[in-house]
Amino acid sequence: MIDVILGLQWGDEGKGKVVDYFASRYDVIARFQGGPNAGHTLYVDGKKVVLHQIPSGIFKPGTKNLIGNGVVLDAVALQKECETLDSFGIDYRKSLFISDRTQLILPTHKALDRASEQSKGKEKIGSTLKGIGPAYMDKTGRNGLRVGDVRDKSFVSNYIKLRLKHQKLLDNFSFQEDISQEEETYFNALEFLRSLNIVSGEYFINDAFDKGQRILAEGAQGSMLDIDFGTFPYVTSSTTIAAGVCSGLGVSPHKIREVIGITKAYCTRVGSGPFPTELHDEYGDLLRKKGNEFGATTGRPRRCGWVDLVALKYACMINGVTQIVMTKADVLDELDTLKVCKSYSFNGEETQQVPFQMDKLNIEPVYREFKGWKKDISHIKTYEDLPAEMLEYVSHINDYLKIKVNYISNGPGSDQIIKA
Ligand code: GDP
Ligand code: IMO
Ligand code: MG
Repeated sequence: MIDVILGLQWGDEGKGKVVDYFASRYDVIARFQGGPNAGHTLYVDGKKVVLHQIPSGIFKPGTKNLIGNGVVLDAVALQKECETLDSFGIDYRKSLFISDRTQLILPTHKALDRASEQSKGKEKIGSTLKGIGPAYMDKTGRNGLRVGDVRDKSFVSNYIKLRLKHQKLLDNFSFQEDISQEEETYFNALEFLRSLNIVSGEYFINDAFDKGQRILAEGAQGSMLDIDFGTFPYVTSSTTIAAGVCSGLGVSPHKIREVIGITKAYCTRVGSGPFPTELHDEYGDLLRKKGNEFGATTGRPRRCGWVDLVALKYACMINGVTQIVMTKADVLDELDTLKVCKSYSFNGEETQQVPFQMDKLNIEPVYREFKGWKKDISHIKTYEDLPAEMLEYVSHINDYLKIKVNYISNGPGSDQIIKA
């Protein structure tokens, strides 16, 4: 069977921690989209680790980890991540597998990302500048190079051809940067990549399935950053929703069992774009401070706000979510009152649907208020011991979404999670 864990908001919901928590129940953990724009945090022996491209099961002995064809891979970033694994004594040569169909991010993709963002001025996406958009453009434009190509004698000449094309685009942007140093590092990293397990990802995953192995697909980013259903154009360039598992790994939808959606007990967004429940006051500052809301990849402060049930319900619909994990509940511990957005109001009307272009509308969130629990919950181990005010908050979310919040995470530690 295949289960999926993915983010229901604008990313950083705590996917790394939750995947790490569930990883020992699975034989294979697979990333199906995104690339080094992701930053998934987990704690190993009390030490913080941030993974960008390697699945969050890599620390679990006996677990196989696949980087699927739907990912865009930066070999330099991968080598760095592997060096981190070395420092933990993890033998990734036995447990990490990369699909030969995975698209490569080139140094010029990163330069193009920078050039594109610069040219957009105030309308910039707020990209992580990891080359994601340009790499996916080369994939759909049928120009990209893939991991399997690095074994080919013609790789260098194909690389030069693509690089020349990129150079012309960069000239159009009047963007000049010397990337020769970056290129040298890149070619060394490609050597490293060649030494890893490059496999046919679709056979790898379907063989595992046929042998009865348990597979967990790990999403990156979040549903509201999805290329089709997110807040376009302020989105990433991949299919972040459950449908992406099928094309990003090469598996049939029939094989998917649970779709586990993760939401924070509040909401954050990093980068530009609409965020109706964003708080620009001391509550926003408190959430940022208590929740340590700074980007795991770029270090940028995350925008913080109340949980948005309209967007959450939409994400549950698009993904076919079967159960929910709510993270960072402990961050709300000190609040007197908390709010949830139950509908949007704009143009004199109220709606519970996500509109076509959120960024063009002056959306006023309509809130329902809840009493805060004003109690440290980070040490609580059982659902029954959670404060009544918090159970009321969770129960309202259950009722609104008509999907059960099955787990509540009450701290960053791998053991800080409570089954409902
Ligand atoms: P991801 O991209 O979805 O994996 O999330 P990130 O790692 O970017 O951001 C989540 C942050 O919240 C990380 O720093 C986690 O260590 C932390 N975190 C996860 N769950 C909890 C929780 O329940 N409580 C608190 N306080 N922090 C958490
Ligand atoms: P994880 O997996 C939060 C955001 C960027 C920007 C937009 C496009 O850690 O949840 P891109 O680099 O893809 O061109 O950026 O998407 N973004 C994320 N925000 N978490 C992420 O990943 C993100 N990956 C991209 O900030 O607004
Ligand atoms: Mg993250």
